[in-house]
Amino acid sequence: MSHISTDIEQAAELLRNDELVAIPTETVYGLAGNIFSESAIRKIFELKQRPLFNPLIVHIHSIEQLDSFVAEIPDQAKKLANHFWPGALTMVLKKKSIVPDLVTAGKSTVAVRMPNHPVTLALLKELSFPLAAPSANPFGRISPTCAEHVDGYFGTELKMVLDGGDCQKGIESTIIGFENGEPTIYRLGSISQEEIEGLIGPITVKNKKENAPDAPGMLSRHYAPNTKTILVEDLNQSILEHTGKRIGSLTFDQVVDHESIQHAIILSQDSDLSEAMSRLYAALHELDKYNLDIIIAQKFPEIGLGKSINDRLERATK
Ligand code: TXA
Ligand code: MG
Repeated sequence: MSHISTDIEQAAELLRNDELVAIPTETVYGLAGNIFSESAIRKIFELKQRPLFNPLIVHIHSIEQLDSFVAEIPDQAKKLANHFWPGALTMVLKKKSIVPDLVTAGKSTVAVRMPNHPVTLALLKELSFPLAAPSANPFGRISPTCAEHVDGYFGTELKMVLDGGDCQKGIESTIIGFENGEPTIYRLGSISQEEIEGLIGPITVKNKKENAPDAPGMLSRHYAPNTKTILVEDLNQSILEHTGKRIGSLTFDQVVDHESIQHAIILSQDSDLSEAMSRLYAALHELDKYNLDIIIAQKFPEIGLGKSINDRLERATK
């Protein structure tokens, strides 16, 4: 087992010594290292088994820090940072040369975010460097939303998981880039497209790999359980088609009752998308443990956070 602890001082000490620490954020847990330590950054890619061409997000603790790492801040980016930071919004901006190429996979841009979690903000303030952190899961697996998920993935290979409880948002941040000055969503996430448009107006979405070969990591299969998982519109019909199998069901608010269902998880009895989102990954982790033949997930309404949730379910079921 890795060491699950709430000791921020110890986490800081490990990070100063080029070690990795899993950190809590409001979205998912991150696998963090000093952006200026080549050995730490290499360890992140190795431990995650992540290809080196897939760049990392740099985590900072204040908007002022942006100037040190980013060459140009478009007006809309300033507006977004002022409104959503600390929070679940990542911005891809032109980098300064101080940001190591290993972190950005050689790109001229860097992804930056100020996470909204008191433990990690306190940790970042202790440190004289920002933290590069991808989600703390092996490449292609479901992102962790509690310390125990991280421990289950990496065990003793990781020195410490800094425990900050369950992630409040539960899916990854929304990523926005600026192409010729136009804001573009590269990854739907835990701030809805509508909420962002409310602040800066209509925005292009290039969330699919086909449209965004340039946003690495947007692999079509991702966030996947080991158990075969499908995403359907008509749950009852699908259950009938799989009668006789050991089925797990995952629904937004619908109650399912059928003898083939071994485990039914309803993500929000109150039909609250934000509650459903916060429970999504833990539910997939849980259903994956029951040795089921198939997990049948029901499509969410294509609105607000429902779109982000559908995106993750689609990637989990490819
Ligand atoms: O909520 C989150 O964003 C979490 C927490 C830990 O902050 N982090 C996270 O990191 O989801 P990761 O590495 O799993 O996903 C980051 C995504 C990848 O798809 C990567 O390709 C993209 O961000 N990315 C990073 N730098 C980029 C850049 N310069 N241009 C385009 N995409 C970039
Ligand atoms: Mg990830």
